[in-house]
Amino acid sequence: MANKAPLRITVIGTGYLGATHAAAMAELGFDVLGLDISAEKVALLERGETPMYEPGLEELLRKHVAGHEGSSGRLRFTTSYEEVGEFGDVHFVCVNTPQKHGEYACDMSYVDSAIDALAVHLHRPALVVGKSTVPVGSAARLAARLAELAPVGEEAELAWNPEFLREGFAVQDTLHPDRIVVGVRSERAEQQLREVYAKPLAEGSPFVVTDFPTSELVKTSANSFLATKISFINAMAEVCEAADGDVAKLAEAIGYDDRIGKKFLRSGIGFGGGCLPKDIRAFMARAGELGASEALTFLREVDSINMRRRAHMVELTRQALGGTLLGTRIGVLGATFKPDSDDVRDSPALNVAGQLHLQGAQVTVYDPKGMENARAIFPTLGYAPSAVEAVRGADVVLHLTEWREFQQLDPAVLGEAVAVRRLLDGRNTLDPALWRKENWTFRALGRPTA
Ligand code: UGA
Repeated sequence: MANKAPLRITVIGTGYLGATHAAAMAELGFDVLGLDISAEKVALLERGETPMYEPGLEELLRKHVAGHEGSSGRLRFTTSYEEVGEFGDVHFVCVNTPQKHGEYACDMSYVDSAIDALAVHLHRPALVVGKSTVPVGSAARLAARLAELAPVGEEAELAWNPEFLREGFAVQDTLHPDRIVVGVRSERAEQQLREVYAKPLAEGSPFVVTDFPTSELVKTSANSFLATKISFINAMAEVCEAADGDVAKLAEAIGYDDRIGKKFLRSGIGFGGGCLPKDIRAFMARAGELGASEALTFLREVDSINMRRRAHMVELTRQALGGTLLGTRIGVLGATFKPDSDDVRDSPALNVAGQLHLQGAQVTVYDPKGMENARAIFPTLGYAPSAVEAVRGADVVLHLTEWREFQQLDPAVLGEAVAVRRLLDGRNTLDPALWRKENWTFRALGRPTA
């Protein structure tokens, strides 16, 4: 029997998830065509550049995008659905599903329009694979829509394959996933996905085959669990504040129990970003529609604990400054929602900086990668080109995103720049002893006595 031609893959939506997925598919050896409705984004990706900062991604793009010296030439981009429909055997849908304005539910309009636009160009059998995070029930609805609109009818099949990549580790997580979950309705769909993921499967990535609703739920429940774990430790931080305990020690001690584990037990100003906050809210909204809202009422508490962290940080700062923020100078280290990312979406750090500014403090922010994005959404804050410049003349310094660069700061050098050697650690990753040695007053959230 002649060798079967390798599958040809398309990736629809080249944001953070899609750009990484497209480059990773090319790395796995496939010919890949990425689509975005934005011609500028396509032009950027063709130059081997990305609109966001993600370690290793630009290198991987340049390794595969056609036209770059020494590239494999396996990766191309387009704005044409017609071209995508003609080219692909397997089409990954990677568009985003943001929170709806003024509602908890997620906005499905990008997914819906991607499926509609693609379907009409499917003239031969194809597998359409959703990767976006969607409310449970979407895959079943979209499968029917696809078969109805596609010229090839039922031969245009849908599968759901949620994505678990983390910003900052996107390339690694995509090439070496800790699990591959597929919601499928046929043997053929399962086999095609096994073919797509043959390399990670050979490396030992577990492959979980399930139905549509379970595959959709896996994603939202995983993010809900992670959010719950963070809010749990942050609730303990509140109790530690009241009882003179130390939440960092507490997390260390309970983390040694491997049923609990130490990951995602870092207490601080809480979680943010484009995923956890909106995913738990969309999950609650969907459960409500399904008549199961009671099952998820705890997520409301998880959300409130998380949002309270930001207010606690503001209050701790006010206390440290003797009861008022008016006219004070505050140096803020960090703006992104986590290190190794330039993403400031729903960033706790930027939210705290903004609240302090709105309450009368003069706030100057420095972040290694997030300055441009922060300035775009909060132009009225002060921005400085380095940590030392951000804290110059400050009455208090706030550590709000745990970049490695901040752990390596020299307390003596910063001490020369500030007006008062006073540091508040909102991420519990700085070493109090180091700062106190240089005569800093050091206070960390959830560690009143540490
Ligand atoms: C999250 C999930 O971790 C991924 O598995 C998932 O694929 C992704 O969402 C998604 O839905 O696409 P991400 O948003 O990149 O990934 O960020 P995380 O690493 O989960 O961090 C989220 C937030 O929690 C950050 O603000 C971080 O600072 C905070 N966090 C994390 C804590 O406050 N404490 C911790 O112990 C861990």
